[in-house]
Amino acid sequence: MPLVAHRVYLETVGCQMNVLDSEMVMALLRRDGYQRVETPERADTILFNTCSVRQHAEEKIYSALGKLREHKRAHPEKVIGVLGCMAQKDQQQIFARAPFVDLLVSPGQLQQTARLIELARQGGVRQTALSRGRDPHAPDSGPAGHETFDPLRDPDMRPHPFQAYLRIQIGCDKFCSYCVVPMTRGPEQYRRPEQLEDEARLLADQGCKELILLGQTVNSYRHTTGGRTTTLADLLYRLHEIEGIRRLKFVTNYPSDMTDSLLQAVRDLPKCSRYLHVPLQSGSNRILQRMRRGYRVEEYRQMMQRIAELLPDAAVSSDLIVGFCGETESDFAATAEMVRACRFKNSFIFKYSPRGGTAAAQWADDVPDAVKRERNHRLLALQTEISLEDNRRFRGRTVEVLVEGPSKQAAKRATDAEHLQLSGRTMCDRIVVFPGHRRLIGQLLPVTIDEATPHTLLGRLPDEPPDHHLVALAAHPTSPACQDDTPFPDPSPETRR
Ligand code: 5AD
Ligand code: SF4
Repeated sequence: MPLVAHRVYLETVGCQMNVLDSEMVMALLRRDGYQRVETPERADTILFNTCSVRQHAEEKIYSALGKLREHKRAHPEKVIGVLGCMAQKDQQQIFARAPFVDLLVSPGQLQQTARLIELARQGGVRQTALSRGRDPHAPDSGPAGHETFDPLRDPDMRPHPFQAYLRIQIGCDKFCSYCVVPMTRGPEQYRRPEQLEDEARLLADQGCKELILLGQTVNSYRHTTGGRTTTLADLLYRLHEIEGIRRLKFVTNYPSDMTDSLLQAVRDLPKCSRYLHVPLQSGSNRILQRMRRGYRVEEYRQMMQRIAELLPDAAVSSDLIVGFCGETESDFAATAEMVRACRFKNSFIFKYSPRGGTAAAQWADDVPDAVKRERNHRLLALQTEISLEDNRRFRGRTVEVLVEGPSKQAAKRATDAEHLQLSGRTMCDRIVVFPGHRRLIGQLLPVTIDEATPHTLLGRLPDEPPDHHLVALAAHPTSPACQDDTPFPDPSPETRR
């Protein structure tokens, strides 16, 4: 343990897995006497928890590192570390582009972060802790640590104190041809149900009301011991019993593993959110096959049909990739057709970004960037239209909302007023903004909806009069009050561009 308290700056890019990893790294460091600070200048340890899923996310980190070049020259005693997927995937490149980096730690070795920071500080020698990943001959600097590492929690690091992630699955074995995750996060492993239940109880004791179960393909979860297999549906039944937990969500789902028994569990367990994030990726069978997604459009449609029958009030959201290798205008039209047919609550739409080490990296990235951008805009416009129509159906209805905190607008104003604009979510993951008292944060409340934008429902407490200011803002969807559009859980916060 350091003799003087160290100050650490930790910046996170990427998916919910990274948000959770950062929470745990911070818990580890706090246990060792570290304090968190808000700027690299005030820190003596500067860490970036990184994402490799698209080029854009990597460039963001290289740009942040570039800005620190002079700072490190002036303060050579500061330790700069790159954690997460980029550390695993791009060790040589990171040292080539940012030779002043002292530390690389892969997602599977994060439990070693505190020890390695100390070694780097004392010895002035670069430290790396990488996982063996998929290559049996590659060096591996330590054991996988999730079983011991995951239960470490730090409530202060959570975006909202009443919500917590719980990782049930590590890694991915699906090998979609465009995706780097099976390489950076390694083989699929499932955590033990007993350990998950213990961790969920701990989170409930810390005041958590909403649990979000995480896995790259969370609905593939199955853990077998002593001849007994626990599926995600079984796990939901177990966690549903925990007092204090009011809502259960799980992300991200794999279409082929969406079983009827899971849908029935969601239907029969009142704490389960009626929200399913099930990425379609493309609406063209030809492209799905090249993506190695393992299902056809017809099967996805059948899954949507089963969801509609078993969970008529559920909201389904999706991820879509435009401009994948060889995508023609008619492939793209098929994707747009599926968006129309499925009426997703929202979609995260990404331009294809070739990733080294994936199967698709050997194929020509033959859709020009301008075409990718244009398809992205067209699909987004279509999705926005559908989201608005769907949200308008809520006008005049009263919905139950878990109040998360000040709305983005109120947070930007950094007001400490008692009455402010609050933001929360419905059972089907729709964002609701309404005026209220600060003490309502963390409560489950009825809210009456007066207006809607594509991403936000605008409402009021049932015994209050309509808020004319909010309602007027719905007419100008670009106004800041209507931009509370960061879904939580968010498949990948950096990507909506
Ligand atoms: N290019 C663009 N989008 C990608 N995704 C994963 N890999 C890539 C890539 N190489 C998207 C998928 C996935 C989401 C998290 O990121 O849509 O569901
Ligand atoms: Fe990547 Fe998801 Fe496919 Fe796994 S299932 S390879 S994480 S896109």
